[in-house]
Amino acid sequence: MHQESHSNTINKKQSQMQKLTEEIIGLESSPLYPYRTQNGYLPVIGEGSLNAKIMFIGEAPGLSEAQSGRPFVGRAGKFLDELLNSIDLNREKVYITNIVKDRPPDNRDPRADEINVYAPFLERQLTIIQPHIIATLGRFAMNYTLKLFKLPQHSQPIGFLHGKILIPPDPNAHYCVLPLYHPAAVFYNRGLEKAIHEDFELLKDFTQT
Ligand code: URA
Repeated sequence: MHQESHSNTINKKQSQMQKLTEEIIGLESSPLYPYRTQNGYLPVIGEGSLNAKIMFIGEAPGLSEAQSGRPFVGRAGKFLDELLNSIDLNREKVYITNIVKDRPPDNRDPRADEINVYAPFLERQLTIIQPHIIATLGRFAMNYTLKLFKLPQHSQPIGFLHGKILIPPDPNAHYCVLPLYHPAAVFYNRGLEKAIHEDFELLKDFTQT
């Protein structure tokens, strides 16, 4: 009985994610849709376990991601894999996605209108997966997530908030938020490497249950 309800939940989650995927594939109203289709790129929905306790949110796909349809498969992704392995995790045990699901031209920062188009999909992914902790990668994902959950720290810089576990004020919230540096930030500033490794250690407490 218990097992049956578990597999029903998984089936439900899979079909909700499938529906969301189809909606994003056909999202002609997105300002990034023409760029995607003209270049033969794929949207990047996310990947990993639909029962993950830990959900990572990055910014937007880059070239390798838009070509493969998978999040974090380029250089930053290799480093993310290393960070996951350092705490005995891998992609199958967590869920990895981005705020913006299509590649912005020339890897520019996502614009507010683009974030607004894709944000409802991210919120649906959060509802489907119900993670215990949301680990944001970089300042775009951090700013968006802290505002979404009305966290009072939202105006503070990532240099101050990284590695701090934040509890949303909503008493019904079943998750907390951990701002992390974006893995690519380390390529520009080697001094961040130690901090990002230490911050990842905090996720160990969320790997069981
Ligand atoms: N950077 C991101 O923020 N997301 C990816 O998927 C890849 C690089």
